[in-house]
Amino acid sequence: MVLAIIVAIDENNGIGKDNDQLAYISADLKRFKALTTGHTILMGRKTFEALPKGALPNRRNVVITRQSDYFAKGADVVSGLEEALELCANDEKVFVIGGGEIYKSFLPETDELYLTLIHHAFEGVDTFFPNINVEDWELSNEEGPTKDEKTGLSYTYQDLIRK
Ligand SMILES: NC(=O)c1ccc[n+]([C@@H]2O[C@H](COP(=O)([O-])OP(=O)(O)OC[C@H]3O[C@@H](n4cnc5c(N)ncnc54)[C@H](OP(=O)(O)O)[C@@H]3O)[C@@H](O)[C@H]2O)c1
Repeated sequence: MVLAIIVAIDENNGIGKDNDQLAYISADLKRFKALTTGHTILMGRKTFEALPKGALPNRRNVVITRQSDYFAKGADVVSGLEEALELCANDEKVFVIGGGEIYKSFLPETDELYLTLIHHAFEGVDTFFPNINVEDWELSNEEGPTKDEKTGLSYTYQDLIRK
């Protein structure tokens, strides 16, 4: 099984604010959908609860929580990293979709990173992506910078594979 992280990061490794995303870039959301559809997506309980319409369609949603009685409509619930990985041991590729706490726990196990680098420093950021050691990763694809007309934000896709 290939474990991949997908994340949008600002110039300071920021990923969230007030339990919400920093930006909604339409092309990035489409890319997220194209990459993750048909696969399992792993997420923390807070990220699950922030999904505007609940579990994402056409993907197996797995929510990680320490609450033993947690119910998540349309999703499987697991108690931690190990149980999450066991559940999808036979998958071809699994995407970790956040948030901060979950990225931090899964990063050491992760084989691939799908980064959207937003070329902006947002204010009031309260959730961050962990620092990555660039020497551990090889750039397999880069696209951009591209400007999103609606938000005015410029962004670059970088796909990295662990060496
Ligand atoms: N930029 C992006 O690409 C992106 C992507 C996703 C999310 N985000 C942002 O990230 C923020 C949310 O991140 P967050 O760090 O606050 O929360 P999170 O990682 O989504 O969820 C944290 C919760 O996950 C559970 N959890 C974490 N580690 C666990 C473990 N080892 N075992 C069992 N359960 C565990 C706990 O749930 P319980 O409290 O229920 O036990 C914890 O409260 C939001 O602002 C969101 O918009 C950004």
